[in-house]
Amino acid sequence: MASTLSELKTQIDDYLDRALPQDIDQPTLSKSMCYSVTAGGKRLRPALTLATVEMLGGRIDESTLRAACALELLHTYSLIHDDLPAMDNDDLRRGEPTNHVKFGAGMATLAGDGLLTLAFQWLTDNELPIEVQARLTLALAKAAGPSGMVAGQARDIEGEGKHLKLAELQYLHRQKTGALLKYAVQAGGIITEQPAAVIELLGSFGAQFGLAFQIYDDIMDVVATPEQMGKATHKDAAEHKNTYPGLLGLDGAKEQLQKALDQAIEDQDQLAKLTGRSMDSFDQFLAYFKL
Ligand code: IPE
Ligand code: IPE
Ligand code: MG
Ligand code: MG
Ligand code: MG
Repeated sequence: MASTLSELKTQIDDYLDRALPQDIDQPTLSKSMCYSVTAGGKRLRPALTLATVEMLGGRIDESTLRAACALELLHTYSLIHDDLPAMDNDDLRRGEPTNHVKFGAGMATLAGDGLLTLAFQWLTDNELPIEVQARLTLALAKAAGPSGMVAGQARDIEGEGKHLKLAELQYLHRQKTGALLKYAVQAGGIITEQPAAVIELLGSFGAQFGLAFQIYDDIMDVVATPEQMGKATHKDAAEHKNTYPGLLGLDGAKEQLQKALDQAIEDQDQLAKLTGRSMDSFDQFLAYFKL
């Protein structure tokens, strides 16, 4: 039986609580890293990996959990750095004061550095086959680094005050947020050693989901409250960020969101056909978007 999203979240939270403090050898750094990771978070990225593993017939064991949670470490690093005064300068994250507010910008930078590096340690310090570890490592490095998330973040800060066209904004969103979510889904295919065509299609689903996710985040910045989101809202326009609602208005942004979701659902159907398996567990993730 496939696990529910809330069952996956419990497993992820328990693993992070248990494993993270073991690998940090400095008390303040440990407090700072554990603070942001355990502050909460929906855990959608590792849950996507684990749900994909289960749908493709794999089992969630200690090694799979560790490899999946590596992505949550890396994602949390990206949030800590995204919030720094020199970047988005935010005070609230996951319903708590941001890492730099609590520990200072220096320690927050190091907490991010630590989480980024530890992610690759967890990807390779486990009992998965060496070839699987190597493929995960390459895929995550490409998704998270200067050809993926970091490049998107660079476009994001450079774009402040400039007027990006839709194609440019879509590219930015695919990099800064889409790349890690695409990896999250593909990792499930890599762990279960799927053929190239399946990994490709998993990537396509993940990329559409990831684009939808950032469009929705842009919309929530306009329509939601900080209490709902656990972070500041109504801030993107003030910071001259390029966003979907900023460029297209709320209705236009919702239209683009629906388009990305429709494509994701098409990929989900194709995946079911190609693998002969139910891909219905993705429905729980698609239910995140409330239009
Ligand atoms: C926030 O990601 C950053 C974006 C890519 C929009 P999430 O909305 O997944 O944040 P957490 O992990 O639940 O805190
Ligand atoms: C995505 O963009 C953040 C990362 C890639 C880390 P945002 O800057 O919009 O994310 P939030 O709204 O601060 O979570
Ligand atoms: Mg940002
Ligand atoms: Mg931000
Ligand atoms: Mg945002």
